[in-house]
Amino acid sequence: MSRFDIPNALRFEDAPGGLVRAVISTAAAEADVYLQGAHVTHWTPRGQRPVLFVSSKSRFAPGKAIRGGVPVIFPWFGARGDGSPSPAHGFARNMGWAIEGTKLHNGGNVEITFSLAPNDATREFGYAAFHVCFSVTVGTELEMELETRNDAKEPLTYEEALHTYFAIADIHRASVSGLTGTTYVDKTDGFKRKKLGNESVRIAKETDQVHLSTKATCVVHDLVWNRRIIVEKSGSDSTVVWNPWIDKTKGMSDMAPDDWKEMICVETANAADNAVHLSPGASHKLTASIRVE
Ligand code: BG6
Repeated sequence: MSRFDIPNALRFEDAPGGLVRAVISTAAAEADVYLQGAHVTHWTPRGQRPVLFVSSKSRFAPGKAIRGGVPVIFPWFGARGDGSPSPAHGFARNMGWAIEGTKLHNGGNVEITFSLAPNDATREFGYAAFHVCFSVTVGTELEMELETRNDAKEPLTYEEALHTYFAIADIHRASVSGLTGTTYVDKTDGFKRKKLGNESVRIAKETDQVHLSTKATCVVHDLVWNRRIIVEKSGSDSTVVWNPWIDKTKGMSDMAPDDWKEMICVETANAADNAVHLSPGASHKLTASIRVE
């Protein structure tokens, strides 16, 4: 792994639970990215508080999803649509990804590129011919790009998400703007379709909303820390907003009892009606670019 190190900018190291991570430290920012799941767990532009939330109770173990950061969700979102017994949110977040390369850009940004190809486990789930490439660029912005190619002779339909957990001071004093007028699936109310009015999303109970057919930039407003987290995206038609609130958090073994107060997920996704359909040989790219003001 150390052949991908970049002196004074990126090194690979052994991490808790027998995992391996890239540790990036530049003049602009620091970040950690685990090989399992190609999972960014930490990104802090210099002078800022951490932008990503990770639970103190998260598991760090082979095959176990990390609770926080940016889980890469592929090829289904939530429960698998066909009802077969399959892990929630697909298999990509629980698998080891290969490193394709690392790069120091002019200007100091550091990029890591990972790939995920079919293996015995993905074939068991019926995914035998795809190629996914995920690149993370760390600087004053966190840029992520998820590109999927269909290598099969048949069409491929899949869902995906960059399931980003943002750190906030207090959920009662935070909101998400950018989604006014969208139709969303309310997963806390029998998957009913609802329409958001002319307001921001505020969280005052368990919230699990898949906003459909929206390409809009979203902003997380944190009134206590007096910061705005801006999420710009492309190739993504869904945005998911999730906070488990009090009771659901209590039932989650990998979250601490008060974690719900300090996190909000704003996920750059293609889910439900916005699943991606790829003809043989075609590819699709989803990007998210995050900055703090
Ligand atoms: C959200 C889903 O994206 O992720 C929720 O909309 C789900 O329904 C949440 O509870 C967390 O999922 P998991 O599998 O990481 O516990």
